[in-house]
Amino acid sequence: MDLFSEVSQSAGKHSSLEERIRKLPVPVISVFLGKDGKIRPAAFKETGINLICKRPDRIVEVFAKTISKTGSIVLEAVAADESVRVKGKRVAVLFSGGPAAGGHNVLAGLLAALGDGNTLVGIRKGPKGLIKGDCFEIHKEDIESIINTGGFDFLGTDRTKIKSPDQFEKVGQMVVKNRLDGLVIVGGDDSNTNGAFIAEYLETEGIACSVIGIPKTIDGDLAAGKYLPISFGFDTATKIFSELVGNLCQDAASAVKYYHFVKLMGRTASKITLEVSLQTKPAITLISEEIAEKNMSLESIVDYIVRIIILRRMNGLNHGVVLVPEGLVEFIPEIRRLIAELNKALAEHENHISELPTIEHKREFLLSRLKAESAKLMASLPPDLQQMLILDRDDHGNVKVSQIETEKLLIEKIGHRISEMQLHTDRFFGTGEGKIAATTEQVEDFKKVTLSTQSHFFGYEGRSSKPTKFDAAFTFQLGLAAASLVLAGKSGYMAAVTDFDRGGRVLGLPLTGLITAEMRKGKEEFVIEKSLVELESPSFRVFAQNRDKWAEQDLFSSPGSIQYWGPISKQIPIIVALDQDYPDYDNFDLGEEKQTVDSE
Ligand code: FBP
Repeated sequence: MDLFSEVSQSAGKHSSLEERIRKLPVPVISVFLGKDGKIRPAAFKETGINLICKRPDRIVEVFAKTISKTGSIVLEAVAADESVRVKGKRVAVLFSGGPAAGGHNVLAGLLAALGDGNTLVGIRKGPKGLIKGDCFEIHKEDIESIINTGGFDFLGTDRTKIKSPDQFEKVGQMVVKNRLDGLVIVGGDDSNTNGAFIAEYLETEGIACSVIGIPKTIDGDLAAGKYLPISFGFDTATKIFSELVGNLCQDAASAVKYYHFVKLMGRTASKITLEVSLQTKPAITLISEEIAEKNMSLESIVDYIVRIIILRRMNGLNHGVVLVPEGLVEFIPEIRRLIAELNKALAEHENHISELPTIEHKREFLLSRLKAESAKLMASLPPDLQQMLILDRDDHGNVKVSQIETEKLLIEKIGHRISEMQLHTDRFFGTGEGKIAATTEQVEDFKKVTLSTQSHFFGYEGRSSKPTKFDAAFTFQLGLAAASLVLAGKSGYMAAVTDFDRGGRVLGLPLTGLITAEMRKGKEEFVIEKSLVELESPSFRVFAQNRDKWAEQDLFSSPGSIQYWGPISKQIPIIVALDQDYPDYDNFDLGEEKQTVDSE
């Protein structure tokens, strides 16, 4: 083939890499393998582990039907009796929320476990498509073209929350009309909560259809310790961000003139930021959970960063990289109070506010409902940020933190602080409490500092990549597990995989054991509790023990691009290896590799 034809033939996801990646073998955990070495569904046994959430009394009331069946007991997959073959089942699947690498391998795993005797139905455009009944049958040829590829585009996704009686009724009708025996929801905490409510509704209505969740989100905040160390998509996203941040560290040290402020996606949790920091060791990393724990105000965060900038200057470094978690603003105590007051006012005066003609009117009204301190803070924030806090919530009531330019807010505040310090060096340098010890020459040098900054937001870049080998394997097992749970007639569970370093263990976690009551928009809502960075965890401790060294000198590392072949292609997130006490992070074991499509 000549070069011209070669280039045009790679259109439509046929680059050399995409072609080769489709043919990569995927590991299969032994419970999913028959004696003939072929993939087959697993069976499930009860473990005796009772998963209990924080508000069991309320959960038992709200999910009475589901709990009477599951007992909130964790299930474990075991090899099934090979003489039993379940046939004629129809199982539907949808993606919900933001994309995460590996979604297409979930579909591959589902179809592989369902086998020829059952049907896999794809629902287009997420929960919205479920309500509309927009679906089609997925075949082997579809899987051959999407396996190991990135994105959610094969089905599409959306963030609709199923909450009204009418919506639940439509879901019930869709299930009956399409003769569904199972519904698999691939989503994050909010989407899996949706799943728990749908399971309860169908059970209450006497509609026999298993509802199974799959833990998806790059944020890593849908996790359950040793039962589910991480959600899928986290590994791929953090490897992409780590490559980009490593490159920035390298560029900063080369150009020696910029501080790069990088906001990293992750919504509420700082897990992505912690992983990227452990991978790249930049000069400064903020962890929201620590900021909340230490009750650090915006001013004290600015102070912390400025002190490191000055220290580095004294060490001859006028550059660096600062990592800022996406959800930081929600953890700064005074902003958290402000958001809580706004949420309450928005909930109490929903109708009135919706009738106010302009944003300025809404802002004025809300300002009048805030306590004096919050009103003052609100007025001091940049107009864009005020608007985000006032108006935009997603369907699940979350503030859209991806659209809040926290990195720019910090840059602005730091610039002001440095100018103030340059004007009043006597107030900030010297020997008194809180003052910075510096020689006269160092203070004079500081007066000449001009902070040159660049701001970045890495988020969407990391959600739809081709999955890492780990995410490709993890998602394939999750698909196998979900299909097996449906064929075993289980409902109200989330498929989970754990023990990534020793062949893999497959579990069914009762969704009701993960759900708790939370205040959103000023109302009590039932949601799966987010898994945040724990300050006692080994991963945070390793970071905390090392960060001062990374601040003083350039000790960054540049982990490079995702590898699909070779010695470092089997890495998992560092935080998973540390927190699960694995011996290393570069050799996951999820069973024997199998060729899922024809090899070259
Ligand atoms: P999910 O939890 O739905 O997987 O979404 C994760 C995420 O990538 C967050 O990190 C981010 O805040 C959000 O999606 C942004 O999505 P959107 O642009 O739809 O608000």
